[in-house]
Amino acid sequence: MSKIPYGPTYDEMLHPEHQDPELRKKAEKALSENELDPINLFNIGWKNGGNGEVRKIVLPKALTGVDANIVVMLGKYFPSGSHKVGPAYATLMEGCVDGEIIPGKHTILGPSTGNFGIGVSYITNLMKYDAIVIMPDNMSKERYQRISRYGAKLDLTPGSESDVILTLERTYELKKDPKNHALAQFELLPNYRFHRFVTGNSAIEAVKGIGNGRIACFTSAPGSAGTLAAGDEMKKAFPECKIVALEPHECSTLTNGGRGQHRIEGIGDKMCTLIHNVLTTDFICQIHDDDCVRGLEVIHEGTETLVKNGVDRKLAESMKDLFGVSGICNILGAIKMAKYLKLGPQDNVVTIATDSFDRYDSVIQNLKERELEVTDHVLDRWFEDVFMEADTNKILDTRGKEAKEKLFEQKERDWLPFGYSKAYLDSMKKPEFWEEEYAKIKDYDRKIKEMRGKEI
Ligand SMILES: Cc1ncc(COP(=O)(O)O)c(C=O)c1O
Repeated sequence: MSKIPYGPTYDEMLHPEHQDPELRKKAEKALSENELDPINLFNIGWKNGGNGEVRKIVLPKALTGVDANIVVMLGKYFPSGSHKVGPAYATLMEGCVDGEIIPGKHTILGPSTGNFGIGVSYITNLMKYDAIVIMPDNMSKERYQRISRYGAKLDLTPGSESDVILTLERTYELKKDPKNHALAQFELLPNYRFHRFVTGNSAIEAVKGIGNGRIACFTSAPGSAGTLAAGDEMKKAFPECKIVALEPHECSTLTNGGRGQHRIEGIGDKMCTLIHNVLTTDFICQIHDDDCVRGLEVIHEGTETLVKNGVDRKLAESMKDLFGVSGICNILGAIKMAKYLKLGPQDNVVTIATDSFDRYDSVIQNLKERELEVTDHVLDRWFEDVFMEADTNKILDTRGKEAKEKLFEQKERDWLPFGYSKAYLDSMKKPEFWEEEYAKIKDYDRKIKEMRGKEI
């Protein structure tokens, strides 16, 4: 016999104030005192450790060069340093209450390019499972260090971000052993449910009191496309909200089936993921990978450049460590879309910083080796080129029938080989599929509460 792990419901992740007050106090304390205390499961959510509000920054207009308010939600305050721990927990918890994952019996597999793997390693440590993270061997070294620190084993496949399909193939092989259970982030709907409910509703809260209090546009670069699901909730609240999937220009799979290596870790995985609701994706926008790495360097080391260009010094200093490479990609997408949609000072664009600078030192070192000289002059130039001159090229409108068909076809090419039936893929072409999946949250919340700490 083993015990169902004790963790939060979806509602308690969105509303920590709905947690038992004593438990909440302990969880807040553990946040700063003991990262590996299992009570930290109750810190999975967007409102950690601050004043009870969604952790976010409204970017200074001197940085974005647009009138619209760009609101960036900050994933770094989640336990393990990235919001990917949320879908990792939701997938594991749903598996537990469904009786598919038995503590002590199953080894958890986490196919990933890093942050999901870090999340899996972290929660399996807290929930006492053995875990194997399957990921490419050429990601930032900070990722492997964290995974090992949290205790999961690593199973590395060749390549980098755009070789994630090899990790799926490896997971497919390992899954043949019934002892192994995969938290398949690209395929399983708890990832959709977590982000639509927790991230989506947190975004709706985050814009209260900013501009017109609505969301005109949401930009997110899909890895698994879990985060993108938050857009479905935003669109429900604000029907005018445009959902924009960003992808590397160097690996433009969603735009035109293009595939290639790129430098934006965590996104652009050469596929249309199974859980990507393409019905609600209004635009696909391409971003150059090196713009993201250079943009990160400008924000991390270019405080003087930012101040010279009108950013308040304190704000510039506070931003230094807030973003990672994909966060800059999301910000650049937000700037481009604000220009494309001609948004004004009352309009809000929401985007996400999945993680933060703590896992990109090696990426910046690599940039410096490639560029040879990163002087103040170079940082000034990058500020201009990357932020001020962000343009409206390479934006594809995917609202029409033909564009949707192309995305469905991409999904078929990607998922029929993994054993999904055409009938299942076809069912995803209807909005009801997504609504029914989303509605399961109520059942899961009930089950999680009923089964908390019970023997199974
Ligand atoms: C750094 C980073 N950014 C963005 C993403 C994309 O998020 P999602 O998988 O929810 O699409 C990931 C996913 O692992 C990531 O690690």
